[in-house]
Amino acid sequence: MPFHLLGLQGVAAAELRRLLHSARRSDDLTARFPGRVFANLFLEDSTRTRTSFALAARKLGADTVDLVGSASSVNKGETIVDTARVLEANAVDGIIIRARHAGAAAMVAGAVGCSVINAGDGRHEHPTQGLLDLYTIAESHGRLDTFDLSGLTVAIVGDIAASRVARSAIAGLTTLGAEVVCVGPPHMAPASLGTLGVRVTDELDDVIPAADAIMMLRIQFERYGDGTKSADPAAKPNVISSIREYRTFYGLTSERADRMKPGAVVMHPGPINRGIELDAEVADGPRSVILKQVANGQRVRMAALASALAG
Ligand code: CP
Repeated sequence: MPFHLLGLQGVAAAELRRLLHSARRSDDLTARFPGRVFANLFLEDSTRTRTSFALAARKLGADTVDLVGSASSVNKGETIVDTARVLEANAVDGIIIRARHAGAAAMVAGAVGCSVINAGDGRHEHPTQGLLDLYTIAESHGRLDTFDLSGLTVAIVGDIAASRVARSAIAGLTTLGAEVVCVGPPHMAPASLGTLGVRVTDELDDVIPAADAIMMLRIQFERYGDGTKSADPAAKPNVISSIREYRTFYGLTSERADRMKPGAVVMHPGPINRGIELDAEVADGPRSVILKQVANGQRVRMAALASALAG
């Protein structure tokens, strides 16, 4: 049975900790897997995840073949499953896949015999982002020995309903014992999120002083309209009436960051809409661990790929 990493929902604490401890010892994995190869199948844009997986594989001693949507036969109408089978027939050890559709990684995993790692599927999950977020919070609060996050409060702020990053983070954080507060306007942070074991509020200012980590989310403008009215029923919906209003209520401004408690950190999965959900001074300021998240991404991806190869 090949190792798959399709999401963090339903993954036991012991397995999360195994991956995180392996990430912590990622130097021990260096050059352990010469001659092995992964397909990096990215059918949606990416800077961080695609680069990070490629470099993680290289550090393991493995190789990657890179396929992007605009240059693959998916662009000619080939199905994702047929594409994945072509990769498998070329004897790759695993397929790393990013796709626009929720469930795409699970569909591929059901169709091929090699490992599949979900690098983000629509609004569903982004498990390696979730793992790097867990790692970064543990590192920031001295929990690398145990990866026990109990007693910590993590606020996730913004477009949670559309966010695969939030879905993976919520699953991992609650499993490792953190308290999670979801913050946003009701259409972005609906009360139904409460079924995931989190608190939900639309009052960011109430949450700021209590949070040990504040994870700001990007408004995913590519999934929404540009604010203009359209009679076309197929037009993308508009998500906010005014960027200035959004920033006023839900932006992590310098003034808000000054009210965070000592030791609390600012996170963002990237890419950042500077000046909308996050002020540039905060993104580049002393509380920001955004680039540590990027660096930790390579560790957790080495751990995930090593699990695929060992499996
Ligand atoms: N965080 C993240 O998934 O970034 P990319 O879209 O650049 O990979």
